[in-house]
Amino acid sequence: MKVLVTGGLGFIGSHTVVELQKEGYQVVIIDNLSNSSLEVLQGIVSITGIMPVFEKLDLKDKAKVQEFFKQHQDIHGVIHFAASKAVGESVQNPLMYYENNINTLVYVLQELEKLPTANFIFSSSCTVYGQAKAMPITENAPIQFAESPYGNTKQIGEEIIQDTCKVNSNIQAISLRYFNPIGAHESTKIGELPIGVPQNLIPYIMQTGAGIREQLSVYGDDYPTTDGTCIRDYIHVVDVAKAHVIALKRLLENKNTSNNETFNLGTGTGSSVLEVIQAFEKVANNKLNYKIVNRRPGDVISAYADTSKANEVLGWKAQYSLEEAVLSAWKWQNSLNSL
Ligand code: WQD
Repeated sequence: MKVLVTGGLGFIGSHTVVELQKEGYQVVIIDNLSNSSLEVLQGIVSITGIMPVFEKLDLKDKAKVQEFFKQHQDIHGVIHFAASKAVGESVQNPLMYYENNINTLVYVLQELEKLPTANFIFSSSCTVYGQAKAMPITENAPIQFAESPYGNTKQIGEEIIQDTCKVNSNIQAISLRYFNPIGAHESTKIGELPIGVPQNLIPYIMQTGAGIREQLSVYGDDYPTTDGTCIRDYIHVVDVAKAHVIALKRLLENKNTSNNETFNLGTGTGSSVLEVIQAFEKVANNKLNYKIVNRRPGDVISAYADTSKANEVLGWKAQYSLEEAVLSAWKWQNSLNSL
């Protein structure tokens, strides 16, 4: 079965391609290489021994998207990762985010509309919840005002899918709301490749531990939490990847109960920034150099998932602990240092 993975050379996309190939799917990757590199393709092949079909293509080019689907009429499923995802960057450059994250989604869906049947998995985010009132967060938690244009593009994306599925019963969709994906494949052949100064906590910790960065800044320890730092649900990227294969299978086997389902992807456990630092120091046996600084605008205090729906309906549960995920990120960082 041929599956299209847009953004398939990205962090979560590449790990999902590996899991798809392990399950015997034939994978076609579209990526514009704006936030990834062809080395990731080699990394995938070195793990699975299977070269995916790769097309360098920018999904913002509507004519190119139409041409692609003309050439690939036999696609059984689409997993749509392609999007920009840096919260801070989206505040600085909102129109780039609306164009890149919304137009591309519309152009792909317009092609799926033409097919007799289409199975579509959307990369969504816990950022759609904003600061949820109750923890852990369930899929029924109200969607709140997006703290950033990035989060807004995910909210708008889910609304576009909802409206499209209402009038296109041929499109079967599942949106997966990721909490904080971290870590890397055990082979250390693929992992997170932040470009420039890392925006996210884990890559910044890894680069500080490796001496690439001088010191981690912890954005605030005056929050109403156990130790004053923000709480997140850090989930191993391989657990996230496996959930995509399970969700796709659910659609391919017509087990979905509506043509637009939504699932949280988290571990169900919240960890503070200081707890993540402690986990790193323990698994890496490395004292991290950090300082407490002011809060980062836009941060929510706490976000961790109620995972019961994915556990019960998808039959999926995160397998890796925080320490295992942090260790996998550290091993990946060390493999990068040895290049
Ligand atoms: C985590 C915590 C920071 C950096 C991410 C993705 C977003 C979405 C949700 C998928 C916060 C603190 C961070 C640093 C710090 N994922 N921090 N020093 O903001 O939860 O969002 O997950 O859609 O796309 O960006 O993740 O790693 O940036 O921050 O203290 O140098 O770490 O304040 O409390 P965030 P993050």
